[in-house]
Amino acid sequence: MTSKHTREVPVLTIDGPSGAGKGAVAANVARRLGWKALDSGAVYRAVAASALDQNVSAEDVDVLVALCDDLPLSFEAGDDGIRVFLDGQPVDGRLRQEEVSSMSSRIASQSAVRAALMDLQRSFRQPPGLVADGRDMGTVVFPDAQIKVFLDASVEERANRRYKQLKEKGKDVNFLRLFRDLEARDRRDRERSVSPTVPAADAEVIDSTAMTLEAVIDRVLSIARERV
Ligand code: C5P
Repeated sequence: MTSKHTREVPVLTIDGPSGAGKGAVAANVARRLGWKALDSGAVYRAVAASALDQNVSAEDVDVLVALCDDLPLSFEAGDDGIRVFLDGQPVDGRLRQEEVSSMSSRIASQSAVRAALMDLQRSFRQPPGLVADGRDMGTVVFPDAQIKVFLDASVEERANRRYKQLKEKGKDVNFLRLFRDLEARDRRDRERSVSPTVPAADAEVIDSTAMTLEAVIDRVLSIARERV
């Protein structure tokens, strides 16, 4: 249960579609405020990785729900994103693998899985404050958050950013395929019946298409400082 005390801890939610830069913005804002960070996508990814390791299908809801129990996850705000640890070990590499991305979006559309992960996500609300990155942080998980941001960017710009990131890592990427994958994932996330990716009514929408990362961070920090 969320205690009264916990509800008073400030939360800044950053929701938005894939590739809008939420992770880098959330990590930098958390560091500058000295707050904790939650990467909720990594919570779904951790369940997906564990399901893949144990040959559990995306339709086997009862087993998936059991996998959501007592996940020993922790987060650290790094320079370019939120780092993820499972049992104290870094797991970013495994969680970013393509098979895990695909499985995580499939299990994320199961309402029983979403419900089973609710308390875990809320448990990261600890003093002095929390920056939570995801799709439904401001609408479902922390509806009483003091500061809500919805970070968007055109699909072309998001695909461009992802393309450059992958190229810099020496990966062989096809821009058109990446663009189409992003469009398909957007549609699935926006149109699903449970917790679709939409801005909360009280969220500040930031279109980062023509903004630098530093400008977005400054904008989010100034919104935060107005409200807490
Ligand atoms: O943000 P990220 O790409 O790591 O998220 C992985 C998957 O988890 C996405 O496909 C998204 O649909 C799902 N997700 C979600 N709700 C969240 C965060 C992520 O459904 N709050």
